[in-house]
Amino acid sequence: MKKDVRKAIIAGNWKMNKTRPEAKELLEAIKPLVANANGKVEVIACVPFTNLETAVAATEGSNVKVGAENVHFEKSGAYTGEISADMLVEVGVEYVVIGHSERRQYFGETDETVNKRTKAALAAGLKPIVCVGELLWERECSITEEVIARQIKLDLFDVAAEDVKKTVIAYEPVWAIGTGKTATADQAEEVCAFIRNTLAKLYDEQTAQAVTIQYGGSMNATNCAELLSKENVDGGLIGGASLKANDFNTIVQAAVNL
Ligand code: 13P
Repeated sequence: MKKDVRKAIIAGNWKMNKTRPEAKELLEAIKPLVANANGKVEVIACVPFTNLETAVAATEGSNVKVGAENVHFEKSGAYTGEISADMLVEVGVEYVVIGHSERRQYFGETDETVNKRTKAALAAGLKPIVCVGELLWERECSITEEVIARQIKLDLFDVAAEDVKKTVIAYEPVWAIGTGKTATADQAEEVCAFIRNTLAKLYDEQTAQAVTIQYGGSMNATNCAELLSKENVDGGLIGGASLKANDFNTIVQAAVNL
């Protein structure tokens, strides 16, 4: 990554894991390990809604930030089961994952709702982590760039340049999530660079250079250093490995040592 213009962001996405006592235990283990990343690498734990308050309390005064895993786009109303951006802000949340492929695959999330959620999050002062990525079939059909460009354009439609600088893009090839199949560092770099070029066309070069673009998909303690060494890979969105304090810390340290 270009350290002079961007700061690495290592975020755990816990998905549907951990009760509150388990969440507290994991965060208490992570905090001292990653304390040296303060000021160098942004460290985030994105946790289930029920863990947010526990996580905010457990990380108070530390350099670990808390994120949610989804947010609704309306401010309030008859949306059973949903959580608004204002509710997240009130709990003390700073980041929110939006458009994760699991939400797109299993919960009918579309680029239109990802765009609405992103704008609602930004309007409330949250920093969105917007996920994009191609299916294996799409890669095999050689339309990865078309798929990614479409997602970037639609997901960020009508988002101002100043807001896009606060937005993190996570490139997560769907075929690499939870499968143990990691994109090679060159594949990750190729698509992250393509995302940056797409942003430069939509906005301008300076804005594109300011955006943090993460890689996600089976990133772990073994493959993180090579992935993070790439110029356009500015961090990671980590699933399975973020549930183990030592593995998560190894990834954070790889970013610190860039
Ligand atoms: P894994 O690291 O478990 O493959 O998950 C990646 C992911 O989906 C992060 O959002």
